Amino acid sequence: MFLLRPPGVYRPQGDTALLAAAFALVELQPGARVLDVGTGTGAMAVLAARRAGVRVTAVDRSLRAVVAARFNTLIRGLAVRVVHGDLFTPLDGQVFDLIVSNPPYVAGRSAPPPAHGRARAWDAGLDGRAILDRICSLAPAHLARGGSLLMVHSALNGVDASLRRLREAGLRTSVVARRREPFGPVMRARKGILQLQGLLEPEHDDEELVVIRADTFDSDTRWQAA
Ligand SMILES: C[S@@+](CC[C@H](N)C(=O)[O-])C[C@H]1O[C@@H](n2cnc3c(N)ncnc32)[C@H](O)[C@@H]1O
Repeated sequence: MFLLRPPGVYRPQGDTALLAAAFALVELQPGARVLDVGTGTGAMAVLAARRAGVRVTAVDRSLRAVVAARFNTLIRGLAVRVVHGDLFTPLDGQVFDLIVSNPPYVAGRSAPPPAHGRARAWDAGLDGRAILDRICSLAPAHLARGGSLLMVHSALNGVDASLRRLREAGLRTSVVARRREPFGPVMRARKGILQLQGLLEPEHDDEELVVIRADTFDSDTRWQAA
């Protein structure tokens, strides 16, 4: 799909595709509210807004991403509300039936993720969990009764860590998709750091991506068989 992508905005790639494949199996009722956290070009928001009767909101901390996502949804005639801000901050008090996210999850060189620049699209603190952990803690308050979260990240970040945090936040969890991907340029450049941190064995040139699903206990989200 053609997507306007200004410099510095994340190019949808294997993680986006794996999240999209998991999203395709979710049956959404007309009127369902979907939130795309860290929308980038708006790739996931476009897919969601193409579903009949679904109301889509997207958020990103990058102004360029917000502009790109607004453009990419508008030229398709899709009504998507794209807001600028940090994760759920601009969505105070709002709840959604499905939250999807492909957040930054690459282990970086500095503890706080960068506040500006291209690397903000993927850098996520020393262990890559700075944004993941915040989403795990904050998402439950933004799920409507019966709602679900779908979130993609690398297994190098610790799948159990995400599952545990989401369970601690009161959700039921499972892994709904896995795929091995060769390292892209960012991961190749980070191999040394990842090895130093004990996150990667020297012989590895690929990583497993996982999509985690987390449901509220009264979830009525319906899923097609894969
Ligand atoms: C890995 S990219 C994914 C983009 C898009 N969802 C995709 O799959 O193509 C992560 C996105 O999260 C955004 N982001 C990073 N930190 C954020 C934050 N604290 N709040 C909201 N968005 C954030 C980045 O600007 C970037 O667009």
